[in-house]
Amino acid sequence: MTRFRQYVNELFHWNEQMKQFLNSQEVEENSELWNQLDVFTELIENTNRELSHEELLQLQAKAENIHEQMESYFKRKQEGVVGTIFVLEKEVPAGGHTLPELSYSYHALEPYISEQIMRLHHDKHHRSYVNGLNKAELNLKKARENNDFSLIKHWSRELAFHGSGHYLHTIFWRNMSPNGGGDPQGILKQAIEDYFGSISTFKKQFSEAAKQVEGVGWAILVWSPIAKHLEILQTERHMLLTQWNTVPLLVIDVWEHAYYLQYKNDRSSYVDNWWNIVNWHDVEMRFEKAADKNWPAI
Ligand SMILES: [Fe+2]
Repeated sequence: MTRFRQYVNELFHWNEQMKQFLNSQEVEENSELWNQLDVFTELIENTNRELSHEELLQLQAKAENIHEQMESYFKRKQEGVVGTIFVLEKEVPAGGHTLPELSYSYHALEPYISEQIMRLHHDKHHRSYVNGLNKAELNLKKARENNDFSLIKHWSRELAFHGSGHYLHTIFWRNMSPNGGGDPQGILKQAIEDYFGSISTFKKQFSEAAKQVEGVGWAILVWSPIAKHLEILQTERHMLLTQWNTVPLLVIDVWEHAYYLQYKNDRSSYVDNWWNIVNWHDVEMRFEKAADKNWPAI
């Protein structure tokens, strides 16, 4: 990975964190801070070429400027509180999962995925996995409190089904962007070429894996911390045929609800079009973290 690409990915990650932070602080949608972050998002998502030193400095100055404005905004809001803005990832208690917000609007992925599909998929289907996971966790909590594990097989199945559904959809939304498409860069590009031979061979295998999932499920690009290489898996439903201790990097949903309203039974076109909205910044960022040499393999 070039230092330039790494820097852009860091900016991308920072930008995502700032959005989460504004969301968590319930900053109004029409706030100037949101506008500035949106402009910044567009700027870095369209950064596909090496920038000159001067352009990089300008980008950095813009990020610093937004950061300063955010600090000043929250200082004004909470008088007397001075400090650096940071995002704490909250621990989720049993039954405490919530539907994650999308960082783009429901119609933003058109014409590749329609607004109607996105709305139903996110607000109805994903929400039902969140509810199912919460229910399973709370019932297992109750089982522990009552020392009654007579229904553990049922709740364990529910936990796996809805938990995998929630986690995979969360990755799926982030794996896409209205400004997506193109090819991966940096060390992810290198790792794909090393293992699969070329980007086009990788895309071919990933597409075929998605098209040939038996029934409903997903195709998933994973990193194996043990083998130290990438792999493409199919999973039926959300949790069958999985390979544990692998890290999902890029996932595509091929359940009928993901495409049927628009593509009918033509899963193939849906999969082919999907590549136009892949958010490689996100995939690269996940890969950088997963492939970190300090990641424990066991
Ligand atoms: Fe889905």
